[in-house]
Amino acid sequence: MPDVGTSQDIVRSTRELDYGTWRFQKNWNPLHVVDAEGCYFIDAEGRRYLDFSAQLMCVNLGHKNPAVIRAIQEQARTLPYIAPGYATTVRAELSRLLVEVLPKGLAKFFFTTSGTEANEAAFKIARLCTGRTKIISRYRSYHGSTMASIGATGDPRRWPAEPGAKGQGFIFAPEVNCYNCPIKHQYPGCDVACADYVEHMIDNESDVAAVVVEPVVGTNGVLVPPAEYLPRLRRICDDHGVLLIADEVMTGWGRTGEWFAVNHWNVQPDILVTAKGITSAYIPLGLCATTQKIAKYFDDHFFAHGHTYEAHPLTLAPAVAVIGEMRRMGLVARAREMGEYLGARLRALQDKHPSIGDVRGLGLFWGVELVKDRKTKQPFNTHSDKMAGKPLVVDQVAAAMMQKGVAINAWLSHFVIAPPLIIEREEIDAGVAALDEALALADAQI
Ligand SMILES: Cc1ncc(COP(=O)(O)O)c(C=O)c1O
Repeated sequence: MPDVGTSQDIVRSTRELDYGTWRFQKNWNPLHVVDAEGCYFIDAEGRRYLDFSAQLMCVNLGHKNPAVIRAIQEQARTLPYIAPGYATTVRAELSRLLVEVLPKGLAKFFFTTSGTEANEAAFKIARLCTGRTKIISRYRSYHGSTMASIGATGDPRRWPAEPGAKGQGFIFAPEVNCYNCPIKHQYPGCDVACADYVEHMIDNESDVAAVVVEPVVGTNGVLVPPAEYLPRLRRICDDHGVLLIADEVMTGWGRTGEWFAVNHWNVQPDILVTAKGITSAYIPLGLCATTQKIAKYFDDHFFAHGHTYEAHPLTLAPAVAVIGEMRRMGLVARAREMGEYLGARLRALQDKHPSIGDVRGLGLFWGVELVKDRKTKQPFNTHSDKMAGKPLVVDQVAAAMMQKGVAINAWLSHFVIAPPLIIEREEIDAGVAALDEALALADAQI
């Protein structure tokens, strides 16, 4: 091992030599993390942090699950790499398991090394097999960082990429947000007009290949749709021969209390994209799964897509282990049960803190939205504040929580709380207590 010096040297060289993603590079001051176990990670000074958002909502099994680590080690010994044109035992094994756990009808798989790339594959597949170009996405969405997937992203991370990303046929519909409806309707009186608006777009656009949705919007606020929304969207897509793509990069793998979020509404997408929890994030893996009908198209049409690392054996082995571990520990049911507890604890905070506008979620996936004013629902900060690098109130609250040993994911004016699915009640209590204390900072700014 080269001697890289003290912890301070490591932080300094990281800051000077690397890009810290999705941030202003100046003044970036990363924490030096040296270890992680279960629901905690540990810094160079030996401080433990409760991982209340499972890093980027991805370490679903918690850190250092021994079965997943063993699977990676064994695969490295057996066959660390072979080109994607070959069949492998691990690929066959994972594919069989995926048919069991994915929503019904998804039967053909393309393996990537990220959610971004899995979306890229999905968009290309949708365009190739429909012969159409446009993809309808929604404003409050995130689908990845390369040119097509950032072009399909509704949130402001798209703005700086627009010159390149704009030309690729992505158009945006209003999101489903029953707390703060973008078209000023109120559920249930609205009869889910936001879904019907998508039909209006399809009618007036022509050339629409697919509609892509996060079944529960993730980073952009944990927006849970009402019961009618996804079935209505499914019907609209069917009526117009448009494909429905479910981006389950964040919502898959038990996060919402079902293997995949679309199961809550019995909706079968034509294409499902996932990543993150598929390996509990230990090794980069993404998946684009399609129906047999879409797959058949490519029996006689050239599938113009691929990667050197596609179906990389080392990426597939941990996914086999993750499915085994999720079944062994009953983590899907556990996410439902512990999620109810977490939700009740967060809702109780709402009674106490005037800065909380809304608490919403499903399974172990919760959003806490902060507002300056409950009546007007005005957020503390806006998209423009974020893009201009203004200090955000949620970041102040998150920093105070870090001081208390709890890491939480903050975005604009809300938190995304998504702990490892193995979390215990006492750990939920500790996380909620840290949020409870730190929210005084937001309450004071009302
Ligand atoms: C819904 C959704 N889609 C796609 C992505 C991109 O996945 P990745 O970061 O693995 O490229 C993310 C990442 O957070 C996501 O949340």
